[in-house]
Amino acid sequence: MSLAIQLERTGHVALYQQIVEQVKDRISSHRLPPGARLPTIRQFAQELGVTRVTIQNAYNELQTGGWIEATTGRGTFVSQTMQPNAAMRLSSQQLTPDAVIGDILQINEIVGVRSMASASPDPALFPVDEFWNTLNELRHQASALVSYSSSQGDPFLRIEVANQLEERGIRVLPDDILITSGVTQSLSLITQTLCRPGDSVLVEQPTYLGALHVLKAHGVQVIGAPLDAEGPELDVLERLAIQHRPRFFYTIPSFQNPTGLCMSLARRQALLALAERHNFLLVEDDIYAPLAYDQPAPPALKALDRTGMVIHTSSFSKTFMPGLRLGYVVAPPPLHQNLLTMRRATDLCSPPLSQRMMANFLATRGLQKHLRRVLPIYRERRDALLAALQHRMPHTVTWTKPVGGFCCWLTLPRHHALSNLHQLTLQQGWAFAPGDVFLVQPSTNYHLRVCFGNQGVETIRSGIEVLGNLIRECLQRADLRNPQPSDWTPLV
Ligand SMILES: Cc1ncc(COP(=O)(O)O)c(C=O)c1O
Repeated sequence: MSLAIQLERTGHVALYQQIVEQVKDRISSHRLPPGARLPTIRQFAQELGVTRVTIQNAYNELQTGGWIEATTGRGTFVSQTMQPNAAMRLSSQQLTPDAVIGDILQINEIVGVRSMASASPDPALFPVDEFWNTLNELRHQASALVSYSSSQGDPFLRIEVANQLEERGIRVLPDDILITSGVTQSLSLITQTLCRPGDSVLVEQPTYLGALHVLKAHGVQVIGAPLDAEGPELDVLERLAIQHRPRFFYTIPSFQNPTGLCMSLARRQALLALAERHNFLLVEDDIYAPLAYDQPAPPALKALDRTGMVIHTSSFSKTFMPGLRLGYVVAPPPLHQNLLTMRRATDLCSPPLSQRMMANFLATRGLQKHLRRVLPIYRERRDALLAALQHRMPHTVTWTKPVGGFCCWLTLPRHHALSNLHQLTLQQGWAFAPGDVFLVQPSTNYHLRVCFGNQGVETIRSGIEVLGNLIRECLQRADLRNPQPSDWTPLV
């Protein structure tokens, strides 16, 4: 049986990886059912015109992930232990940010599900070998690097982060930086330091579900301000600021999650002026800023801040490897000290070994080199997603045009036939994040967040085909009348 694998020989993705992706695709779309026999290594290599080592590597990876099983003397088969039940367990959970984050984090481990639910970089693109070399170079310092270390963070890493920040227009000293174990921890420290339960915090509507979870976990009252194509709608934000006297406004100005949109320079300046007028802080999450596909992001809010209104946080989770758990925060002086105190009360310090590895990797400009390699790949995936949406979605569906980052925000009619769409896609082996968990106030529409960072072009096309067909079927079954015009583009 031919699996109709198409290889891109001049592409950036290794041949074995392309084979892995496409075999997974055939499995999750049930074109290869559990128990189906795969070609022998020799046959497959011949059919695709690649070496046997390439096929062996692909089969090894598929086997490690549990997608296929090899039995000596019998052959290679699609795993019988596909886990539709595990997928259903996920889909039966409550729709809260907490539950959905939990699902998104574990979904990659479920064999038979392809996930476009997670705003993650692609592990297949991680420069693992180069990074591991930095580990070998640290052998002679090993004892110091597995001892307790400074709560503020490795001084070498803080020097490198200060250099990175300069590229975002932010001039700070290494001493002004607090290393954290990611933006999630930065947000948690900021919230604990600035807010008491019941205090108000403003966020964008829609916004990153993890931020909503942090804020809610600390008992804060969260209020959403709508977005337009240039950023938060400032007249509404001003009204909300007067009404609720928020402790801060949490914003993702560059390549926002979940919309992929970028706040214009003019809106950034006006937002700063507004925060100053009404005396609330801005918490700027800059995590996606270097992942720009069309033009660089405007300067960070922190770079434009003349009066100390901005707390800036970012991490290496999107530009590099999320499992390192390395981020940082830059706050105005009195707050910096309070954050440090709260950090000591939380987990003392980030692991010194990963901090020093990161510092060395940054010092040799490893991150810039990595970004130069991966940005064209992510751009190609973004383009493939937009083309597939254009081709496959019914005209009642609209979506944002992400200019960076990993996320695209789909808007669907609020019709009961679509209320369990993300569960229906799971039954077909595809995961998308349900939109309601990105919203503070309910929307008049349904939404999905579709992520394109960690899947190849072919997989993205197949996922959108499945999604488009399902939406169409649901709407046809429900005989939906009065469709919205196709150029209708509200965000929520
Ligand atoms: C906007 C935003 N902020 C923060 C995070 C989490 O960051 P970290 O891994 O640094 O905790 C994410 C992850 O999806 C995100 O999209």
